[in-house]
Amino acid sequence: MTAPLKHSASITVDVALGDRAYDIIIGRDVLSSLGARIAALRPGVRTAIVTDRTVAKYWLEPTEASLVKAGIATSRIIVEEGEGSKSYAGLEKVSEALIEARIERNDLVIALGGGVVGDLAGFAAAILRRGVDFVQVPTSLLAQVDSSVGGKTGINSPRGKNLLGAFHQPLLVVADTAVLDTLSQRQFRAGYAEVAKYGVLGDEAFFGWLEANHADIFTGGAAREHAIATSCRAKAAIVARDERETGERALLNLGHTFGHALEAATGFSDRLFHGEGVSVGMVLAAEFSAQLGMIAEADAARIKRHLAAVGLPTHLQDIAGFSQEGLADADALMALMAQDKKVKRGRLTFILLEAVGRAVITSDVEPALVRDFLARKLAQKI
Ligand code: GLY
Repeated sequence: MTAPLKHSASITVDVALGDRAYDIIIGRDVLSSLGARIAALRPGVRTAIVTDRTVAKYWLEPTEASLVKAGIATSRIIVEEGEGSKSYAGLEKVSEALIEARIERNDLVIALGGGVVGDLAGFAAAILRRGVDFVQVPTSLLAQVDSSVGGKTGINSPRGKNLLGAFHQPLLVVADTAVLDTLSQRQFRAGYAEVAKYGVLGDEAFFGWLEANHADIFTGGAAREHAIATSCRAKAAIVARDERETGERALLNLGHTFGHALEAATGFSDRLFHGEGVSVGMVLAAEFSAQLGMIAEADAARIKRHLAAVGLPTHLQDIAGFSQEGLADADALMALMAQDKKVKRGRLTFILLEAVGRAVITSDVEPALVRDFLARKLAQKI
């Protein structure tokens, strides 16, 4: 596969979910078309934009301008940046503000932001007046290729991440790739882990293309749009076949069982961004698969090499404060994995690999094998 050489005005990816089907619009400056697109889908609609302080600084005014130009009434709800807003308190704030803004059953919520804003605003839309429609305008790479697509919405409980939520599909996703220019390199890289994930789990040719073209994705341009569109197509196809994660959709959790435990061990802090946890988690899943004899050692090494080449963490020891309590301890990591939603009756569900581009759901993994693997990784014996 070669990179497309020219920019297209925009790329449309269809999420084929019958009467709840929707489009993902990807391209530079497509944010300016948001109002016209909404007006075409819902003439006369009123909207409320949910966003966070940092995103508001850069992208709220252009978003409002696009809506106003299309004659759409809008109001704004600004939450604090960060995972803390995905809470009961954050949900209360957004829900009450939506009621105050008189968002009715036929109106629209617009989620303008990264994964936190999308999950929070989407969940508020799912429960407001028993469900109002919402539009995702993802502003991080991670949100553009993962969280804005597929309808998972929710908040965290003090007892764990994403324990409260609903499947609520958006009406439209508008992913403006120019918006990513304001992300820090570290945030962009963390989102890239989810892009690479689509190659690793189901598309060896795409993985090979990423190995050759990753630098262009980071600098912007047609390669970036192609990578985002390919990722969205991969996710849309899986979601269309298994919307509620009764089977195949779990493949999207590649790297997440280890990754979530590492995020929890680092207190969901800036020490480890979600995508960085997925990067280390994907490498651990590949190496564990190799230990079980499922994937060739060389393929596991290839995955690690690519993630390291873009500057993502691939070793447990790459994580800031590695030696602090909880992170460098196999039993503590096992306990965190046991709290994860991916545990059923004491057995761990892992997404493991048979090849680059071939992931499998393995729901009966013996915890002792995982513990032994982690202990040896931590002691740097493997
Ligand atoms: N982020 C995984 C999923 O949407 O299923």
